[in-house]
Amino acid sequence: MKIFNPALLVAAALCAPALAWAGISASHLGSTNTMVRLTEPQRYLLLPVQEAMPDAKVEVLVNGKPERTLYVRLADTAVDYVVPLDLEPYRGQGEVLLNIITEAYRSRSREAADYVCWSAMQMSDTFDTQNTEKYRPLYHHTPLYGWMNDPNGMFYRDGEWHLYYQHNPYGSKWQNMTWGHSSSRDLVNWIHHPEAIEPDGLGTIFSGSSVVDHQGTAGFGEGSVISIYTSCAHSQVQSLAYSHDGGLTFTKYPGNPIIPNPREARDPNMFWHEPSGQWVMVLADALEHQMQIYTSANLKDWTLQSSFGKGYGAQEGVWECPDLFELPVEGTNERKWVLVCNLNPGGPFGGSATQYFVGDFDGKTFRCDTDPSVTKWMDYGKDHYATVSWSNAPADRRVVLGWMSNWQYANDVPTMQYRSANTLPRDLGLFRADDGQLYLSVKPSAEVDVLRGKAVAKGSFNVGNGKEKSFALPEANDGVCEIEIDYAAARGKQLTLTLSNAQGEELAMLYDADKHEFSMDRTRAGLSDFSHSFPAVTVAPTYDAQGKLRLFIDRCSVEAFDGDGRFAMTNLVFPTSPYTQLRVGANGASAKINSLKIYPLVN
Ligand code: FRU
Repeated sequence: MKIFNPALLVAAALCAPALAWAGISASHLGSTNTMVRLTEPQRYLLLPVQEAMPDAKVEVLVNGKPERTLYVRLADTAVDYVVPLDLEPYRGQGEVLLNIITEAYRSRSREAADYVCWSAMQMSDTFDTQNTEKYRPLYHHTPLYGWMNDPNGMFYRDGEWHLYYQHNPYGSKWQNMTWGHSSSRDLVNWIHHPEAIEPDGLGTIFSGSSVVDHQGTAGFGEGSVISIYTSCAHSQVQSLAYSHDGGLTFTKYPGNPIIPNPREARDPNMFWHEPSGQWVMVLADALEHQMQIYTSANLKDWTLQSSFGKGYGAQEGVWECPDLFELPVEGTNERKWVLVCNLNPGGPFGGSATQYFVGDFDGKTFRCDTDPSVTKWMDYGKDHYATVSWSNAPADRRVVLGWMSNWQYANDVPTMQYRSANTLPRDLGLFRADDGQLYLSVKPSAEVDVLRGKAVAKGSFNVGNGKEKSFALPEANDGVCEIEIDYAAARGKQLTLTLSNAQGEELAMLYDADKHEFSMDRTRAGLSDFSHSFPAVTVAPTYDAQGKLRLFIDRCSVEAFDGDGRFAMTNLVFPTSPYTQLRVGANGASAKINSLKIYPLVN
């Protein structure tokens, strides 16, 4: 694949005539308005981005008719990377003209005509998505390029797990929300597809969900895929799109919006409720800190039935991205309903997080088992948000995926050509803990195990009394591995687990069996100067964990799971070079570890 080097492009462009460059000509009409005419369109126009710049508004006109508007941080003094504007739909259609409005205030010091972006724009038949950035995860889902936030509209069908996501195809910061699309047959290897749902006159495409309409209740045919999402412009309203090719391409319903709700409400999540024979949708009434529950017979006409949440759990920030599903309670015949509520800010360690409520649902109303004062978190790290589940998953599984970042600093993490990954897929269950309450169990989905290479295994050993044991992480695996440690024999002790690199950067974990807590300290784990909210110590209650821990390390993330799913913790880390060593110790008295395994992970 072609390696794109922005420096060469800029150098070449600077030697070219200022206003005409390989089929591109620019006319500067004023200090903030430039028109770019494409005389010989190729497949892509590569737009040069400088992330520190504000957005320029780019209107694409074909034969004078507005086709789309996008916002791009067009480069002023230097090109960080380029993004592709796909010209394929306009080829042979006539004149393609870009009417570009740059931010007014910039003209005070510099005229738009002086920006490097005009000469660095290039037409090309290819766009290089190969990414060699050192923090790019190996086995977590990431977009091919550009910004990503929430997972959206996930559904399973015919052996394929479909995943849509909030995508900015024109930069690595939040903007131009579009449903990107990937799919997988095993939840770890992802194929990337063209954008699935693009902005239209009703706005950009915010989060939402999809169902397989097996019976064709919506009138678009049996087995069609129906997605409902939030159209966001001046208001937030709910819109529907359907697919007849298994989720690759979508047609928007002409009657959109289907729910023109009066206040900010978003992220519709729907499912078929078998006992009442109807569709149910949960919609986040964001500023009111409640979830609205609607029902429908045909996915197009929805009736508001009830609301849940006022005064319940964490009430800060906005409530977003709901989900509602039933789960069996481990070791019983009981089934209970779980209402998932992502909120931002207001998480246990600042910023975004996922809380949930356990209770009953009768098809119209959700009733929570616990007092309003009780808050339960699905994950105790800082980087687990917008988590929702796959619809139509096989074998009664409830598989969820979260966005592995936090709105506090998501736009500023030290990557460039892409920004953000999703968590590992996780299977949920319910368990009753020693305190008598029901909690979600969270385990990495079994599919993840296929990544394991041959383990370096160590049988039982003692640590403590000032004695630590060191283990080398797989060098060839370059910041990627799984560590499984059975410390059940160390009950009552404080175990320390430290990942470190040659630079002396350390991620320090502590399992405190007395306090029933697991913590992760990333204050000295690597780069953190991009946000004062990044350094943190996160702490999880371990409930009745049996003393097995799985740690998944993937270049810029560490996910910790109790072996029985009693807690999960997801944190980003940016070590300046990969961690190469694990040290195991115990504060105070000697402690016995039953076993430790380090797996290289291969994808
Ligand atoms: C959550 C969220 C959603 C919204 C989307 C916009 O992260 O704010 O509520 O639909 O992101 O990108």
